[in-house]
Amino acid sequence: MNSGSIEQVLSAGAKAIAEQSKIAPLEAQILLAHLLQKDRAYLYSWPEKILSDEQLKSFQSMIERRQSGEPVAYLTGSKEFWSLPLKVTPDVLIPRPETEQLVQLALDLLPHDACKVADLGTGSGAIALALASERPQWQLTAIDFSSTALEVAQENANGLGLTDQLEFKLGNWCEPLDTPQHAILSNPPYIAKADPHLQKDGLNFEPASALASGADGLDDIRIISETTKDYLVTDGLLLLEHGYQQQAKVIKILESSGYKDVRGYQDDQQQDRFVVAKCPS
Ligand SMILES: C[S@@+](CC[C@H](N)C(=O)[O-])C[C@H]1O[C@@H](n2cnc3c(N)ncnc32)[C@H](O)[C@@H]1O
Repeated sequence: MNSGSIEQVLSAGAKAIAEQSKIAPLEAQILLAHLLQKDRAYLYSWPEKILSDEQLKSFQSMIERRQSGEPVAYLTGSKEFWSLPLKVTPDVLIPRPETEQLVQLALDLLPHDACKVADLGTGSGAIALALASERPQWQLTAIDFSSTALEVAQENANGLGLTDQLEFKLGNWCEPLDTPQHAILSNPPYIAKADPHLQKDGLNFEPASALASGADGLDDIRIISETTKDYLVTDGLLLLEHGYQQQAKVIKILESSGYKDVRGYQDDQQQDRFVVAKCPS
């Protein structure tokens, strides 16, 4: 990529990314639009516009990073979740679209009026912020044991003007909670620590502490299942995201911890991805 117009550098960039990603043309557009601080429509409107040497160099560097597998969201520093533009850094997991369905489950299953709801392992704040944006009467507590992740979540809340309903707490799962909750949601780490996927598909750029959880990926779900009972009101809901082959085991874990009405849900790809359970008295 020596010099060129928007159209020429986009096509070269897409070719370079193609080995990494099936959506190379779109990714090249997202990266160039981010670099030029314009929307993607601008690229279509001005395909003949020539980039400066500096812009070209920066684009080349982004393309190389993408070629090496770095996720687009870390290159642009942002990711949309529940239509909210969230800042993301390598300190936080990039929020995934399927997690929006965990949010939807909570919205469907809980009353609209004043509820106390906790998001364990909040990362970028995605789940707590989406819930706050939909339910102005809910009081949300977002917890993470990573102080750098919590800073990103707090920055996102400030940027979205959603601070009134949200409290951020540093700590281990439920421990920072000081009042019983009507619901606790979590998308915890659930990948087995020897799973080879952790070394590829961009996962190797995300924090290992957000992804891996013991030999079978279920260590954190076991801990959450045992400990959340003390922090939920009777019949309060625990809503968990898990790996697509883990549902039967997660249901068993929750049932042996004494949870009632344990029920599995699928994502919109018909994969078993969520479990909801009621806290015993
Ligand atoms: C899979 S990520 C989920 C992030 C975010 N909730 C989302 O859905 O995009 C798991 C999160 O749990 C946090 N975490 C891991 N172990 C924890 C613990 N013992 N206590 C609190 N948070 C923890 C990680 O730092 C990470 O932010």
